[in-house]
Amino acid sequence: MMLRSSRLVLASLLLASHVAAAEWPQSVSLDSFVATEQNIALQGVLANIGPNGTKVPGAAAGIVVASPSKTNPNYFYTWTRDAALTLKTLVDEFMFGNTALQVVIENYIHAQAALQTVTNPSGTLLPSGLGLGEPKYNVDGTRYNGNWGRPQRDGPALRAIALIQYSNYLISQGDTDKVKTIIWPIIANDLSYSGQYWNTTGFDLWEEVSGSSFFTTQNQYRALVDGGSLAEALNTPCTACAQAPQVLCFMQSYWNGAYLVANTNLATSRSGIDANTLLGAISVFDVNAPCTSPSLQPCHSRSLASFKVFVDTFRNPDLYPINAGIPPTDGVALGRYPEDTYYTGNPWYLITLGAAEFLYDVAAQWTTQGAITVDATSHPFFSALYPSITANATYTKRCKPITFQKLIAAATAYADSFVAIAQNHTPADGALAEQFLKTAPGTPTSAERLTWSFASFVSMAHRRAGKFPPSWVSPNTTVPATCEATSAKGVYAPATAAGAPNITAPCTSTVLFVVNATTYYGENIYLTGNSSDLGGWDLANAQPMQSSKYSATRPEWFAQIPLTAGQTVSYGYVRQEDCGQPWIWEAVNRTLTVPACVEGSTEVLAETDDAWVGSVGSSGGC
Ligand SMILES: *[C@@H]1O[C@H](CO)[C@@H](O)[C@H](O)[C@H]1NC(C)=O
Ligand SMILES: *[C@@H]1O[C@H](CO)[C@@H](O)[C@H](O)[C@H]1NC(C)=O
Ligand SMILES: *[C@@H]1O[C@H](CO)[C@@H](O)[C@H](O)[C@H]1NC(C)=O
Ligand SMILES: *[C@@H]1O[C@H](CO)[C@@H](O)[C@H](O)[C@H]1NC(C)=O
Ligand SMILES: *[C@@H]1O[C@H](CO)[C@@H](O)[C@H](O)[C@H]1NC(C)=O
Ligand SMILES: *[C@@H]1O[C@H](CO)[C@@H](O)[C@H](O)[C@H]1NC(C)=O
Ligand SMILES: *[C@@H]1O[C@H](CO)[C@@H](O)[C@H](O)[C@H]1NC(C)=O
Ligand SMILES: *[C@@H]1O[C@H](CO)[C@@H](O)[C@H](O)[C@H]1NC(C)=O
Repeated sequence: MMLRSSRLVLASLLLASHVAAAEWPQSVSLDSFVATEQNIALQGVLANIGPNGTKVPGAAAGIVVASPSKTNPNYFYTWTRDAALTLKTLVDEFMFGNTALQVVIENYIHAQAALQTVTNPSGTLLPSGLGLGEPKYNVDGTRYNGNWGRPQRDGPALRAIALIQYSNYLISQGDTDKVKTIIWPIIANDLSYSGQYWNTTGFDLWEEVSGSSFFTTQNQYRALVDGGSLAEALNTPCTACAQAPQVLCFMQSYWNGAYLVANTNLATSRSGIDANTLLGAISVFDVNAPCTSPSLQPCHSRSLASFKVFVDTFRNPDLYPINAGIPPTDGVALGRYPEDTYYTGNPWYLITLGAAEFLYDVAAQWTTQGAITVDATSHPFFSALYPSITANATYTKRCKPITFQKLIAAATAYADSFVAIAQNHTPADGALAEQFLKTAPGTPTSAERLTWSFASFVSMAHRRAGKFPPSWVSPNTTVPATCEATSAKGVYAPATAAGAPNITAPCTSTVLFVVNATTYYGENIYLTGNSSDLGGWDLANAQPMQSSKYSATRPEWFAQIPLTAGQTVSYGYVRQEDCGQPWIWEAVNRTLTVPACVEGSTEVLAETDDAWVGSVGSSGGC
């Protein structure tokens, strides 16, 4: 999931402790494994949500923590994406009858209303919504100042999708007023953001590359269509929603003739073969949608072709030794993308389980349609499933029932084989980490008890059991003839009825902090101070400084930070050492009065000229 500077990746590699645990007994049948693990996974999700989550003390009400892991790696934060995907699954679970989850969903709603208003390094809610693109926050709901791949534009869309599904449920129960006054204002901000920024680059779901991400575009499309229907039901306008056709048009452009390329509009040497596209498909799944729908459902020929290319990439035993010897008809362990180096690039539970979910979705869509069409694009996918299949043919339930049934059975068995891979690497206590090693025996690694891993299991189990979320795709959708680069200016307001503070557009002035500080290679300088935008003297939330202008003649470190205008702040610089030695504080506290703001200006309005005061550091030689 997480972006790391190469230095930190190295540190993680050196320090990563691999959890040694007994594996799930292989003698247990898949049905029985799924039944048991589904319950463990649901409890695992709930244990990572504040205020009462047993694994995340300190998390505020409704805050979904990514993992209890605080070191190697530190995932003790809330990510907008992970939280929204998790809540989508909890809303499904609630609608399938687990009514006890309503309090968790309601807490999430109130937490998100407040989070939307938190000023952060991506910006502010008012006036232009930029703060909504912030990927993660501290578990108490405060801003996170550290270096990160920001903004990430999938978060608002995913949050809207989860909240819209819950809103539609409430409307079906006659609770339209509550939706209109309490939940819609949150959704409206997220739709405004999606409609305004869909045609602007941002970081991908793995937080590593800035460009256009298929996963983001596909979810933005769904959010805007879903949002348009909800707005109609509430008899309220949604200007942003009118962007949906152009988002759909752009979405088609990710296809390169062989597979959906995960990221475009960026300079990269990657293949673009990435779990991004299968995770997108399961996120927009609609069991009633036609396979030809340009929303690119799991059963769309291009989704099937991409799935085959993606999975086959990981069959290479040089890439994933753990997959050696597995027949080409069976599921394998899957990672994010073949060029991955994070934690050496291992399989992920949520992707291996996501592949199973994708195939259950495909089988369900075929069943609903009563027909399966094999074309030239999807033929390679089908021939692996059913070697004698011919291209350019349609197999219907009525006219070719035997082949039709065999294909559905084959897709389902293929899905099960991915679940069996996850079973092989699930420890006896059922705790799902982020990854398991690509070399035998496939020990769990990276963040323990990852909320998204647990949620992916629950979601997969729902689909395996034939439980589907409500439909959203219009069967008549067409793609505009010409794609255009467009944007709708958003309208943003704090969702006060849901508990957001009644903020006004902040008046900020950008300050350029400059300090001369001679450092050794590997040492970093941070800025902190007594305001929240400076991290409140908390080192974990200090502002990282840049050294790109550092030279022998001028050892310059700098940071350009918007600060609330008019306030007087106390601030100072801190040295972060290379091998975990204690941080070194300056021997003085400095004072700065932030100048008055100029509306709409992001120009630097004040600049410091400081020189480090106090003792210096030395390398730990690690
Ligand atoms: C959390 O625990 C407190 C105290 O037991 C209880 O009052 C509250 O309802 C719980 N909240 C949730 C969301 O479960
Ligand atoms: C904006 O949209 C146009 C038209 O679809 C497309 O060509 C372009 O790549 C898009 N750019 C971004 C950054 O989304
Ligand atoms: C299927 O149809 C396409 C387009 O009509 C054609 O190019 C292709 O050769 C056909 N494939 C087979 C296997 O018949
Ligand atoms: C889709 O098109 C069909 C036939 O043209 C029409 O009967 C139906 O009402 C349309 N559905 C929607 C949702 O527009
Ligand atoms: C929020 O503040 C604005 C003025 O800044 C005021 O007009 C509005 O009524 C306030 N809303 C609430 C819910 O207090
Ligand atoms: C921060 O320190 C300055 C200078 O001492 C002081 O004027 C200001 O009130 C302090 N701010 C806070 C939030 O304590
Ligand atoms: C700077 O201020 C902080 C917070 O009040 C205090 O803990 C620290 O000792 C001060 N440092 C110096 C050098 O005065
Ligand atoms: C920082 O270094 C530059 C270049 O040597 C110098 O001009 C400037 O005065 C220094 N600033 C302080 C506060 O010493």
